[in-house]
Amino acid sequence: MSAHPASASALVIVGASYAGTQLAASLRDLGFDAPIVLLGEERHAPYQRPPLSKGVLTGKTSLDALPLRGADFFESQGIDLRLGRRAIALDPGAQTLALDDGSTLKYGSLALATGARCRSLPVPGSELGGVFNLRTLEDALRVSDALSSAKRACVIGGGFIGLEVASALAARGAAVTVVESQPRLLARSFPPLMSDYLAEAHRQRGVELLLGHGVRALAGSNGQITHVELDDGRRIDCDMAVLGIGVQPNVELAQQAGIACDNGILTDALGRTNAPNVLAIGDVANAELPAVPGGPGRMRLESIQAANDGARAAASALAGEPQPFEGVPWFWSDQHNLKLQMAGLPMPGDEVVMRGDRQTDRFSLFYLRDGTIAASHSVNRPAEHMLSRKLIAKRVRIDPRQLQDESVDLKTFQG
Ligand code: APR
Repeated sequence: MSAHPASASALVIVGASYAGTQLAASLRDLGFDAPIVLLGEERHAPYQRPPLSKGVLTGKTSLDALPLRGADFFESQGIDLRLGRRAIALDPGAQTLALDDGSTLKYGSLALATGARCRSLPVPGSELGGVFNLRTLEDALRVSDALSSAKRACVIGGGFIGLEVASALAARGAAVTVVESQPRLLARSFPPLMSDYLAEAHRQRGVELLLGHGVRALAGSNGQITHVELDDGRRIDCDMAVLGIGVQPNVELAQQAGIACDNGILTDALGRTNAPNVLAIGDVANAELPAVPGGPGRMRLESIQAANDGARAAASALAGEPQPFEGVPWFWSDQHNLKLQMAGLPMPGDEVVMRGDRQTDRFSLFYLRDGTIAASHSVNRPAEHMLSRKLIAKRVRIDPRQLQDESVDLKTFQG
């Protein structure tokens, strides 16, 4: 079959979530006037994902508030948004992309913003009714619907998704048990001090936590889950289960095209892969991070900030004025009445300084490396989080005793 438009100069973006949408928008801002095709596998126009594990479940967020851009944005920007369309094969030599409707697009440059998908739980019963993932709007609507009749819920995985969902389900009145295979919560992202604080916070708010337990099977009757069976034989009775056991990057298109991958598609700080004219951005990209001192060098960051800033950097490269992202990575999570905000990337060996009192649910942890603030974790201290991003970016040197002394105004260190 012969390739038909877009066109030889077109940018084709595979994946219409944060990274893909931001790339298209930034390019138009930079005056890029070639055709842009934005392919989205889901049937919804690009939407916000954080509310899916929070307000969409509690009912506090209206579905009308979810779209990432206004209704006429794509058309007015000349962005050809094609929804419900999957790319199935990429040929970097011919610069073509095959779609699931049998058509082929010719591109001048291609951006893979294919994101990540939920890891599945390889145990018997995971296909039962009442067992859910939570990644897409459709997933969230299914969970919300199941919750209207469920009294007991089991959440498998004590990471960000699991704990946000546990909070939302508890707020809707369900009895919630979280099963986490590691001995502590959020071990991938937090040091033991924060994990322990959060475990206490969830328990105080009525969530049962079972830490250090594997799941042997999900069991049910008439095709519907009735309980989760743990590795020690214990049974957790439930009407529904939500899996939040991590994600895996959608690298298949890149891999089949021979593009270098290792826990995501490998890119430089501008999103460039080892294939000519092919970029990768967002959750799927394992990108160089030049600006994190003492950091890992590269990382596959799963965050909206990394998706947006990675897309802006890629846009700058495509527009011929390359500007890698040089800021500080940041994330957030809302659990019960706790606003958790994270900046920078803590590393083993950092000196940890606490400011505030964890009993009040308002405190920050600062991570010092080589005498400067390298990272921070804040609970219900949004102003301190914002300030810490500036202090980290400026590599401000600070005496730990002053940092923990609340009578010292941190603003004085901004310089
Ligand atoms: N049984 C119980 N727990 C498990 C199992 C298992 N079989 N397998 C993994 N886990 C636990 C991990 O130990 C970890 O604590 O599940 C948790 C997964 O946490 P994350 O890696 O934070 O992943 P998840 O919560 O699914 O979030 C995925 O979506 O919105 C984003 O920011 C979010 O990047 C995160 C991503």
